[in-house]
Amino acid sequence: MNSDNFFRGQNILITGASTGIGRALAENLAHKDNKLILVSRRVELFEEILRIRKDNVLVLKCDVSDRESVRSAYTEVQKFCEVPDISILNSGVGFHMTPDNYDSRLAEITMGTNFMGVIYWIEQLLPDLIKKGSGMIAGVSSLADANGFSGSGFYCASKAALSVYMQGLRTELKSRGIKVITIKPGFVKTPMTDKNNFEMPLIMSAEKAATIILEGIKKGKPIIQFPFPIVFATRLISLLPEKLYQFLAGLKKSD
Ligand SMILES: NC(=O)c1ccc[n+]([C@@H]2O[C@H](COP(=O)([O-])OP(=O)(O)OC[C@H]3O[C@@H](n4cnc5c(N)ncnc54)[C@H](OP(=O)(O)O)[C@@H]3O)[C@@H](O)[C@H]2O)c1
Repeated sequence: MNSDNFFRGQNILITGASTGIGRALAENLAHKDNKLILVSRRVELFEEILRIRKDNVLVLKCDVSDRESVRSAYTEVQKFCEVPDISILNSGVGFHMTPDNYDSRLAEITMGTNFMGVIYWIEQLLPDLIKKGSGMIAGVSSLADANGFSGSGFYCASKAALSVYMQGLRTELKSRGIKVITIKPGFVKTPMTDKNNFEMPLIMSAEKAATIILEGIKKGKPIIQFPFPIVFATRLISLLPEKLYQFLAGLKKSD
C-alpha cells in the first residue's frame, strides 16, 4: 500500500482526543479520507475538529476509567463501523505529588485512567479484532516508563505498568494478525505539561508529535519512541547503579 494512503478508508479510534496529542492526531487524520471515532469526557472540545470534518466522525463522551462507560461507548462504535482498524488509546492524566501532599486517590485516578483506561478498551476491542483476524492497538505510554522520577511516582508507575502489559500483549496477539504498538513520547507541549514548573528538554509541539506517531504507525513500528536524545538519556538513567542515580538526582534537586 502506498504509505500516503495508509490511513484512507480506515476506521480509527482515538481516546483522549479533546486536547493535546490526541487532538493533534485527530486534526491530522480529519484531513484524510477515513472514519474517525473521537473519545473523551469533554466532547464540547471537539467542535473545532468537527469544523474540519463533519461526516464520518463519531463523537463519544466516555470516562475511560469507568468500565461501564467504555462498554457502553463501544456499543456505539460497533454500530458506526463494526470494529476500528486502528485504536490509539491515548487518554491520560498526570499529577505532581510530594511526600507532603500524599494522596492515594491520585494514584487511583492515574492508574484508573492511564492503565485501566487502556485495559477496558482492549477488553471491548479484542473479541471483534480476534474474529476479524487483523487490526492495530496502539497504547500511549511515555519515556517516563522506566524510571521513578521525583514528584511523578504515580504517573511513572502507571506508564511502566502499561508498557510492560503492552509488550506481553504484542507477543500474545502476533499470531492472531493484530499489531500492538507502544507509543513513548518525550516532552510534548500540551495542557498536561503546561502545568509543569521544571525544565522540559527538547519539548516539541503536539502537531510534531502527532506526525511522528502517525509515521511510526504507517511503518508498523512495535515501539514508537521520540525524541532520540531523550530515549537515549532515559535508557542510560535506567542502567545506572541505584546509588549513582540517587546521587545525581540529589545534585539536580539542590541546583
Ligand atoms: N505531553 C507529554 O509530554 C507526554 C509525554 C509522554 C506521554 N504523554 C501521554 O500522552 C497522552 C496524552 O497526553 P497529553 O499530553 O496530550 O495531555 P492532555 O492534553 O491533558 O490530554 C489528555 C487527554 O486525555 C483525556 N482524558 C483524561 N482523563 C480521561 C478519562 N477519565 N476518560 C476519557 N478521557 C480522559 C482528556 O480528555 P477529557 O478531559 O476531555 O476527558 C484529554 O483529551 C497521555 O496518555 C500522556 O500520559 C504525554
